[in-house]
Amino acid sequence: MDAYTALQSRLADAPRTWLVTGVAGFIGSNLLETLLTLGQRVVGLDNFATGHRRNLEEVRTLVTPAQWANFSFIEGDIRRLDDCRRAMAWADAASDRTVAVDHVLHQAALGSVPRSLADPITTNEVNISGFLNMLVAARDAGVKSFTYAASSSTYGDHPALPKVEENIGRPLSPYAVTKLVNEIYAEVFERSYGFASIGLRYFNVFGPRQDPEGAYAAVIPKWTAALLRGEPVFINGDGQTSRDFCFVANAVAANLLAATAEAPEARNQVYNVAVGDRTTLGDLFGLLRDALAPHGVSPNVQPTYRDFRAGDVRHSQADVSKARQLLGYVPTHRLAQGIAEAMPWYVAQSAATTSPGNIPA
Ligand SMILES: NC(=O)c1ccc[n+]([C@@H]2O[C@H](COP(=O)([O-])OP(=O)(O)OC[C@H]3O[C@@H](n4cnc5c(N)ncnc54)[C@H](O)[C@@H]3O)[C@@H](O)[C@H]2O)c1
Repeated sequence: MDAYTALQSRLADAPRTWLVTGVAGFIGSNLLETLLTLGQRVVGLDNFATGHRRNLEEVRTLVTPAQWANFSFIEGDIRRLDDCRRAMAWADAASDRTVAVDHVLHQAALGSVPRSLADPITTNEVNISGFLNMLVAARDAGVKSFTYAASSSTYGDHPALPKVEENIGRPLSPYAVTKLVNEIYAEVFERSYGFASIGLRYFNVFGPRQDPEGAYAAVIPKWTAALLRGEPVFINGDGQTSRDFCFVANAVAANLLAATAEAPEARNQVYNVAVGDRTTLGDLFGLLRDALAPHGVSPNVQPTYRDFRAGDVRHSQADVSKARQLLGYVPTHRLAQGIAEAMPWYVAQSAATTSPGNIPA
């Protein structure tokens, strides 16, 4: 039995208490769904800056009422230390019982390189001050583990491929600075207070509930929505820019494995979380177009090329052997399989948002 399957049955047998920040967002709501399905108690913290109530509602429909009763939600902001402290205990809605959080999965942040270029101050406040508040609150609460969303943007201008954790370059955007500072703070908290954490450098995660709308949407949901609506798809650059696209189930597995890792050498580390493949944007366009053929998208649709986007890394591909060796992480989904699983959600979402009178919450 692989490490993740074994872990899932251990958790189901002896449920624990988790805090997921950014729970109304894309990755956070996928973590919530998996944890509740495994019978875990979950505290969620979110201020709906980029997340949506409809994501929480959707998770409610995907779990049983008894599992949903294990979820306690706090609408709050990680820029307020009190909100972070409040989130360190799960409260039973039906009684006065509270249970201390065992594992923190810190996902809340303002994502997107272009957003950080447009508003570096807010990105800094949320991603650095908010992160520091979460570290302080988790340290003071004495949680068993603290796992946080780091980013492949930390590789910056380092040219080597595939990316290995110890070789990073200079950051190419304010967003990348914030994610690098997270790693530095995490390491300093271990050195200064003995508070160990694990950073997961996600590489272009995609899947259900990733927001297709807005100026800062990620490439897969944005292109899928455009193709379904018959709108133009823009490729920034020449189409040869490449990425290691990672289906969200892989990221969820990495979080659970990291949070529960007990070997001392596995903690106080950062890990790449991806597949280890590399796909160009041109090839991604073809894959999405083909996957949407059953939904009326013509095989003759072509993308429109435009300028490269500021702050973007040219090529990205992860070496995931460190996570494999120390956490037992094995990606379960490659790109094509992830696209196949994600498409029904995008198609349903697109149909819902284009029907008259249906405005997403
Ligand atoms: N999706 C990716 O490909 C990717 C890649 C690298 C890193 N990450 C990181 O993973 C994490 C989750 O990203 P995502 O793709 O799910 O994005 P998302 O925008 O869907 O989720 C982020 C969540 O954090 C919440 N949030 C933002 N500011 C907050 C605040 N001040 N207080 C409380 N909640 C706040 C948002 O409302 C949202 O629900 C982020 O830290 C992001 O930087 C994501």
